[in-house]
Amino acid sequence: ATGLHTIAKSKGKLYFGSATDNPELTDAAYMAILNDNTMFGQITPGNSMKWDATEPSRGSFSWSGADAIANLAKKNGQLLRGHNCVWYSQLPSWVSSGNFNAATLTSIIQTHCSTLVSRYKGQVYSWDVVNEPFNDDGTWRTDVFFNTLGTDYVSIALQAARAADPAAKLYINDYNIEGPSAKSTAMQNLVKSLKQANVPLDGIGLQGHFIVGELPQGLEDNLRAFTALGVEVAITELDIRMTLPATAALLAQQQKDYQTVVAACQAVEGCVGVTIWDFTDKYSWVPQTFSGQGEACPWDQNLQRKPAFQGIVAGFGA
Ligand code: G3I
Repeated sequence: ATGLHTIAKSKGKLYFGSATDNPELTDAAYMAILNDNTMFGQITPGNSMKWDATEPSRGSFSWSGADAIANLAKKNGQLLRGHNCVWYSQLPSWVSSGNFNAATLTSIIQTHCSTLVSRYKGQVYSWDVVNEPFNDDGTWRTDVFFNTLGTDYVSIALQAARAADPAAKLYINDYNIEGPSAKSTAMQNLVKSLKQANVPLDGIGLQGHFIVGELPQGLEDNLRAFTALGVEVAITELDIRMTLPATAALLAQQQKDYQTVVAACQAVEGCVGVTIWDFTDKYSWVPQTFSGQGEACPWDQNLQRKPAFQGIVAGFGA
């Protein structure tokens, strides 16, 4: 059997990858699949590079979780996506408190981004420098960054990241921008204005947290709308959940949906790769967040491949 990363490469993509997380790294059966670099040519830490994990108090950095995943990628010869520098969630209260004026918060963002990005300099293919800046209606999320600095926080973070690792691709990452929507338009407008202002930006990450049978229409055209603005794109957090229990019909629809998403990326030259938000239902974030839903990943709870696996293969045209 040929691995998904090998297939992706043979079809001209840079990688097929998966998120992973530190607690899972002790699961030998899980690791046997994750470590297979013909299956996954790229990994993303699901939690351990976030602000609460890396700078829990001001100026005091902790790297054990993030280093473990970075070292794993190195050992396996897998690309690494950094996730993430600036996000409203999993933000320690010393930042979210709103206790800082614009100048101080600017320096806090600069220190955080440059320390984080420097640590993995030369190893990270791409960084989610800013995560989830928009509300679903396309307005800016009124988090501490926007409330204190307006939209300037985005360029402050991107510039700090560029200075820290000039070779890393710098991304803004969000959900519900995969198909045409107010939020997708807002992101495209942001790309235009950052490019106009010569702010460093290389890519847009489309997360891809979908529901079986409810994919947005027009995925491929929307990917092209981004790449036409001079950025690359990637599907960064793909999973396709369903209301439980899973049935043969739902699993068959899920297979089709995985195929559709991967085929959209395959069809667009500037779509560099696809990352699933962990490969097994055993460690998916979905059931804890959406009560009664789950089975979102291509491998089941017992680490067996589901029909969705074949959907991914078919999506690459293999
Ligand atoms: O860190 C605490 C730990 O101290 C505690 O013992 C444990 C017990 O519940 O909880 C731990 O925190 C959890 C954290 O993951 C780390 O495991 C949180 O409760 C839990 O809510 C958190 O969930 C993560 C979620 O982001 C938080 O927003 C998921 O694992 C992670 O997969 C998910 O990933 C996000 C992306 O970063 C951005 N896009 C959406 C995606 C899915 O929500």
